[in-house]
Amino acid sequence: MEFCLNSRKPHALGIVLAVLILGLLSFRVAECQTSSFMEPIKYKALRCRKHSAVLTDFGATGDGKTINTKAFKSAIDHLSQFADDGGAELIVPPGKWLTGSFNLTSHFTLYIDKDAVILGAQDESAYPLIEVLPSYGVGRDGGGRHSSLIFGTNLTDVVITGGNGTLNGQGKYWWDKFRAKKYNDTRPYLIEIMYSNHVQISNLTLIDSPSWNVHPVYSRNVLVKDLTILAPIDSPNTDGINPDSCKKVRIEDCFIVSGDDCIAVKSGWDQYGYKFGMPTKDLLIRRLTCISPDSATIALGSEMSGGIKNVWAEDITAIDTQSGIRIKTGIGRGGYVKDIYVRRMTVKTMKYVFWITGDYGSHPDDGWDPKALPVIKNINYRDMVAENVTYSARLDGISGDPFTGICISNVTIGLTEKPKELQWNCTNVAGVTSQVTPRSCDLLPPSDKVFNCPFPDHPHWDVKLKTCSHIGSKKIEL
Ligand SMILES: *[C@@H]1O[C@H](CO)[C@@H](O)[C@H](O)[C@H]1NC(C)=O
Ligand SMILES: *[C@@H]1O[C@H](CO)[C@@H](O)[C@H](O)[C@H]1NC(C)=O
Ligand SMILES: *[C@@H]1O[C@H](CO)[C@@H](O)[C@H](O)[C@H]1NC(C)=O
Ligand SMILES: *[C@@H]1O[C@H](CO)[C@@H](O)[C@H](O)[C@H]1NC(C)=O
Ligand SMILES: *[C@@H]1O[C@H](CO)[C@@H](O)[C@H](O)[C@H]1NC(C)=O
Ligand SMILES: *[C@@H]1O[C@H](CO)[C@@H](O)[C@H](O)[C@H]1NC(C)=O
Ligand SMILES: *[C@@H]1O[C@H](CO)[C@@H](O)[C@H](O)[C@H]1NC(C)=O
Ligand SMILES: *[C@@H]1O[C@H](CO)[C@@H](O)[C@H](O)[C@H]1NC(C)=O
Repeated sequence: MEFCLNSRKPHALGIVLAVLILGLLSFRVAECQTSSFMEPIKYKALRCRKHSAVLTDFGATGDGKTINTKAFKSAIDHLSQFADDGGAELIVPPGKWLTGSFNLTSHFTLYIDKDAVILGAQDESAYPLIEVLPSYGVGRDGGGRHSSLIFGTNLTDVVITGGNGTLNGQGKYWWDKFRAKKYNDTRPYLIEIMYSNHVQISNLTLIDSPSWNVHPVYSRNVLVKDLTILAPIDSPNTDGINPDSCKKVRIEDCFIVSGDDCIAVKSGWDQYGYKFGMPTKDLLIRRLTCISPDSATIALGSEMSGGIKNVWAEDITAIDTQSGIRIKTGIGRGGYVKDIYVRRMTVKTMKYVFWITGDYGSHPDDGWDPKALPVIKNINYRDMVAENVTYSARLDGISGDPFTGICISNVTIGLTEKPKELQWNCTNVAGVTSQVTPRSCDLLPPSDKVFNCPFPDHPHWDVKLKTCSHIGSKKIEL
C-alpha cells in the first residue's frame, strides 16, 4: 500500500514509514511529503487540517466522461472519521471530474486544484430530490427540489476552496428544459450549505450553474471570497450568491456575470417565511463587480418574509446591469427590510440606479395573506457615481404601507443620450436627499443642509484566515 497518495514515486520517508506501519497494523496514518505531481501549495482557510487525501485514491477518473459520484462519496465518508482528530482535506487534482451531487462533512476542506474542473452530471437522477425548504414551503420552481452539486447540511467548520479551480454545472441541459416548461422541480445549485456554522467558500471559478450558484441557508459565520461566477446573461435564474436566512455573512472580492441578480439576499417566502421567522442579518458585501443586464447588482428579496436587516455594501462596481441595489417585495410577503447601508458604488450603463418594487408578485401557493404587509425602512445610499443611466430612480412603496427613512446623499448620475423625462418616479415612499443630481422627487426632497447619510461601522466579524499547506498534513492510509 502506497502512503504518499497518488504519488508516482513515493518519497523515501514514505516508504520507510510504510514498512514500519505495515509492521504495526494498528497505526492508521503516516507522515509523508505532498504527492510529487503537485507543487507545494499554500492557501488561506479558517482552519488547516491534520489529514489529507487525494480523490484518485478512491477510484476516481478525471477524463470528463467517467462518473465519479461514488468516489466523492467514499472519499468524504472515509475522511469524516477524522472530524474529531484535526479534520481532513480532500484534494481534487488536475483533471475533469464528472460527478452528481455529493455531501460534505464537518471539520473538512474540499480543495480544488487550479487545473481541476468538477463537471456537473447532466442527469436528474444524479441529484437526489430532497425536502423543500421549510421557509419556502414549495420548491422555488414550483415542484420538488434537487440536491445541489455540492451539498452540506448540519455541519460545522467546512471549507470549499482551491487554487481558483473550477465547478462547471453544464447548465444548458437544465436551462433548455426549464425554458420548454418540461421540468418543474427546482434545478440544482452549484453549492448549497444548510444549517451550518463556520463556512468558507473561496478562490473558485463557478461556471454555468443549472440555477443559483452559491446558496448558504439557515447558516452563520459564512465567508464567501474571491469567487469568479460566470453564466450567460440570458440564462434563467443563475443568481450569483444568495445568502438566505443567514447571520454574519461576509461576501468580498467577487466578480459575477450572470443571467439573474449577482447577489440576492433572501429569507423565505410569504406565509412559510414569516412562520419560520429566520432573518438574514449582519451581512457585509464589499468589493463586488457585477455584470447582469436584466437583473440587479444586489437584490433584497423578493423572498424576504423572515426579514432582512443590518446589511452593509461598499465598493461595488456595476457595468451594464439593470439596477443597483433593488428591494423587491409585495403584499403577502410580511417581514421587513431595514437598516441597509450602501456606499461607494460606481455604475456604468444602467436602467435604474435606485429601484424599489412594492408590487412584486409570485406567491408559493394560494395560502398567502393579503394583510401581510412588509415593513421597509431606514435605507441609506451615499457616495455614488453613475454614467449612461436611463432612469435615476423608480421607487414604488405600497398604498397604505409607505416605505420610510430613505436617505440618499452625494450621488451624481449621468444620463444616456436619450434619457427619460421623469427621472425620479416615486410613490408611497418618504425620505430625504442631499447633493443628488439630477434633482430627486418631492417625496425625497433635497435637504437645506448638506449631509451624508449614515454608514455606521460594520462589525468586524471574527474571520482570521490561517495559511495552510498540503505539506504537513498527514496522508491517510486506505
Ligand atoms: C445528502 O444529505 C441529504 C440530507 O441528509 C440527503 O437527503 C441526500 O440524499 C444526501 N445526498 C447524497 C448524494 O447522498
Ligand atoms: C439539522 O438541523 C435542523 C435545525 O437544527 C434540524 O431540524 C434537522 O433535523 C437537522 N437535520 C439533520 C439531518 O440532522
Ligand atoms: C487563489 O488561487 C490562485 C491561483 O491558483 C493562487 O495563486 C492564490 O494563491 C490563491 N489564493 C489563496 C488565498 O489561496
Ligand atoms: C480565477 O480565474 C478566473 C477565470 O479564469 C479569472 O478571471 C480570475 O482572475 C481568477 N482569480 C484569481 C483569484 O486568480
Ligand atoms: C409545470 O408547470 C406548468 C405550469 O403550472 C404546467 O403547465 C406544466 O404541465 C408543468 N410541467 C410538468 C412537467 O409538470
Ligand atoms: C462623494 O462621493 C464621491 C464618490 O464616491 C467621493 O469621492 C467623495 O469623497 C464623496 N464626498 C463626500 C463629501 O463624502
Ligand atoms: C449607454 O447605454 C445604452 C443603453 O441605454 C447602450 O446602448 C450604450 O451602448 C451605452 N453607451 C456606452 C458608451 O456605454
Ligand atoms: C411611475 O410609476 C408608476 C407606478 O408607481 C407607473 O404606473 C407609471 O407608469 C410611472 N411613470 C413613468 C412615466 O414611468
